[in-house]
Amino acid sequence: MKTRIKKITNVKLDNDAVREAGKILKEGGLVAFPTETVYGLGADALNARAAEKIYAAKGRPSDNPLIIHIAHMDALGRIVSDIPEQAHALAGAFWPGPITMIFNKAECVPYGTTGGLDTVAVRMPDHETARAVIDAGGGYIAAPSANTSGRPSPTMAEHVREDLEGKIDMIVDGGSVEIGVESTILDLTVTPPMILRPGAVTKEMLEGILGEVAEDKALLGADSKEAPKAPGMKYRHYAPKAKLSVVEGQTEQVIREINRLSREKEEEGSRVGIIGTEETVGRYDCGLVKCIGTRQDEATVASRLYAILREFDGEDVEYIFSESFSGDGIGSAVMNRLLKAAGHHVIHT
Ligand code: TXA
Ligand code: MG
Repeated sequence: MKTRIKKITNVKLDNDAVREAGKILKEGGLVAFPTETVYGLGADALNARAAEKIYAAKGRPSDNPLIIHIAHMDALGRIVSDIPEQAHALAGAFWPGPITMIFNKAECVPYGTTGGLDTVAVRMPDHETARAVIDAGGGYIAAPSANTSGRPSPTMAEHVREDLEGKIDMIVDGGSVEIGVESTILDLTVTPPMILRPGAVTKEMLEGILGEVAEDKALLGADSKEAPKAPGMKYRHYAPKAKLSVVEGQTEQVIREINRLSREKEEEGSRVGIIGTEETVGRYDCGLVKCIGTRQDEATVASRLYAILREFDGEDVEYIFSESFSGDGIGSAVMNRLLKAAGHHVIHT
């Protein structure tokens, strides 16, 4: 299959490309498009055959449900069986935006989209191009991250091309995404509502609206014996080719330990990558050092994380040592993804 790649920088000026994407989606095809979190791989969510194509293109396990993307609040009523009061409050506060809510599904949503579940995940993205493509495609677009299963999520069209060129009908290139980690997932079918995946909408922000909010215990770390409640979270996502270790402790000690470990590996003849920050990159004296962002603003770290992991894959490093981050605010999403990529391999200094 030939994959068409079209740039959309302004949905009004690039209306032909939006219409082309919409036509492909309505005919049951696959279109990757940017959102504010990561690029999504879209298909008509109400067409089971179209949704199935997503699994084939990504190599995704069929029990891993898809998120339905909508562009307007009135679309929600058609795909869920009831809208809890809390959902209105959350939508008012955070939609369009980086939060996915889980509801009981309406009959019209095929099990092919929900991985066989009676619940459905829904998100309204805050991205002009995403919303235009959703509208043009009929209003209900299933979209997982547009990567091959097991690779870091794509934050630029080039990443989508690396993974999916030849396997999907079209890639809409809208440049780099803003946030860089996937949406927060909140299950509204349980009491209290439960966070199944941390993202840019944090627990504190949700508590501000809902009061009590629970967190899936499986998010707590490698020691957890629980199976994650979001089926996709049990797979070892975001795994770089190199062995990634996260080094925790006070910054000075972390720098010293990463220098020591990197030198040791280089003396053994291995290629080493280091993930540092604006504040620290000048302090490393070996390895291939990359700057992920500034400690002053961990949103910058979130937006570079997946691109850095992909860059290291392309540079054939065998070991990567990364500094760790606060775990506050968006830092909790960063640490969740980084620790998963590391298979929870942490070195304490
Ligand atoms: O930011 C995002 O959410 C991006 C962009 C494209 O919108 N999408 C995304 O989709 O991250 P995906 O498929 O890569 O991740 C969806 C996650 C998976 O872990 C899946 O198991 C979970 O959502 N999920 C979907 N439906 C669910 C449901 N009914 N119950 C529990 N978990 C669900
Ligand atoms: Mg994904």
